[in-house]
Amino acid sequence: SDFPKSLMMQHSPIKIGHRGASGYCPENTMASYKKAIELGADFLEVDIHLSKDDVLVVHHDPTLDRTTNGKGNLRDYTAAELKELDAGSWYHSRYKNERIPLLREVLENFGSEVGILIELKHPSAYPGIEEKLAEELGEFQECSTSKNKIMVHSFDMESMKRFHQLMPDIQVGVLIKRRINDQKLKEIAEFASFLNPKQTILSTKLQMRIQKHGMKVFTWTVNNKKQIHMFKMMQVDGIISDFPDYFLD
Ligand code: G3P
Ligand code: CA
Repeated sequence: SDFPKSLMMQHSPIKIGHRGASGYCPENTMASYKKAIELGADFLEVDIHLSKDDVLVVHHDPTLDRTTNGKGNLRDYTAAELKELDAGSWYHSRYKNERIPLLREVLENFGSEVGILIELKHPSAYPGIEEKLAEELGEFQECSTSKNKIMVHSFDMESMKRFHQLMPDIQVGVLIKRRINDQKLKEIAEFASFLNPKQTILSTKLQMRIQKHGMKVFTWTVNNKKQIHMFKMMQVDGIISDFPDYFLD
């Protein structure tokens, strides 16, 4: 293209691996995160829930059935019970040894190599999850020399507001999949550093409105190379994809 290269380089969006490299590996497993890093992701996107004994665990669905050999609600099992489950065979037998990671394990294993973007899944179902996360991130930061960033996002705006009050040094964002008015944008901009629209609602106009309110834009989940190219041209601040290798030109 005749788009000036220097300008493109300057605005190269942050590359975020969705549930790791979930286009190639069972989502939200250590194998998936390792792969995302190999493919050049700047950040890993990691979904979290609370176990029965209030441990932060990494999983997408509130139920176990789709991606493990367990049944029912994750919340009904202790972290030790969840650790018994096979979180890889549903994808391919070669991943049969993959387990549901604890957030702590993800931070310890990858937090020094790559940024971590944590998504609080259904936080209203887990009262106190913001405090729990603040505590865990505080402990991680204390014993880490890493300059890599940790960021947190959620569809739940109230949860992000609460987490921001607990840990103002960690940037938070709000995920949206529907149109948003200026009043709401203003409210979110008071505590959030980014606003992350689903790719199907992201127009140049929406991007400008978000950026005018002083927030960054990370769009999701972009799994098509042409669309990734288009969002790069639009100079979004970050792109979330199952295929971190698609970010390469
Ligand atoms: O990164 C945004 C995206 O992760 C939100 O949706 O369902 O994939 O967690 P979901
Ligand atoms: Ca997510």
